Amino acid sequence: MRPPFVIAVDGPAASGKGTISTDLGAHYDLPMLDTGLLYRAVGVMLKRQGGDLDDAGAAAKVARDLQAGDLDDEAFRTREAGECASRVAVHPSVRAALLDLQQVFARRPGGSVIDGRDIGTVIAPFAPAKLYVTADAEVRAERRFRQLRGRGEDVTFPDILEDIRRRDARDGGRSDAPMVQAPDAVLLDTSQMTIERATDAARRIVEAARARWEISR
Ligand code: C5P
Repeated sequence: MRPPFVIAVDGPAASGKGTISTDLGAHYDLPMLDTGLLYRAVGVMLKRQGGDLDDAGAAAKVARDLQAGDLDDEAFRTREAGECASRVAVHPSVRAALLDLQQVFARRPGGSVIDGRDIGTVIAPFAPAKLYVTADAEVRAERRFRQLRGRGEDVTFPDILEDIRRRDARDGGRSDAPMVQAPDAVLLDTSQMTIERATDAARRIVEAARARWEISR
């Protein structure tokens, strides 16, 4: 049986995958799930309770109790939230607690766009379209720096570059569901691309995957 048309968009922080996913969701009229938000919510909510990010049991409890309505919070978009997210994301029990919600979404018959780190490898390995979006660390740091400054955060470029490098190492080095390109994902390096060119390139990759999916049974 043909799987639902899931577009899996993985890659490191500030690679452009969020913008690309939003564009693809609008273009194909598919619902979108930003899975980074789940880990951000767990990290920030745990901290708000005065919990320890390294305490796997406490983090997993927050993950199990997470409600869809909890996700709409600007505090999850901050620099600190990204760091908290990647620290709780190393715990296998946290990942396990968030698995069901993500897989139910991935099985929606009408298809979806899901962005994260392990979508093409763990959450939806059956996805007919897989992208691995990346860019040089300096380019990503510059983008994230401008974005955070635009939101009024008092940050410096060297600090953000350091964040990006630390997060890449942690996300890529963890033993459970590390950030890695799925063997059947198409690599899209956006280092030299404007947003328009990157979304264009992503649409072309997905269009080819969709044509293959449409003739499959
Ligand atoms: O994509 P975003 O920057 O919001 O993700 C925040 C953090 O959440 C990542 O650095 C990563 O540690 C974690 N994450 C993950 N698996 C996903 C999505 C995000 O481990 N599918």
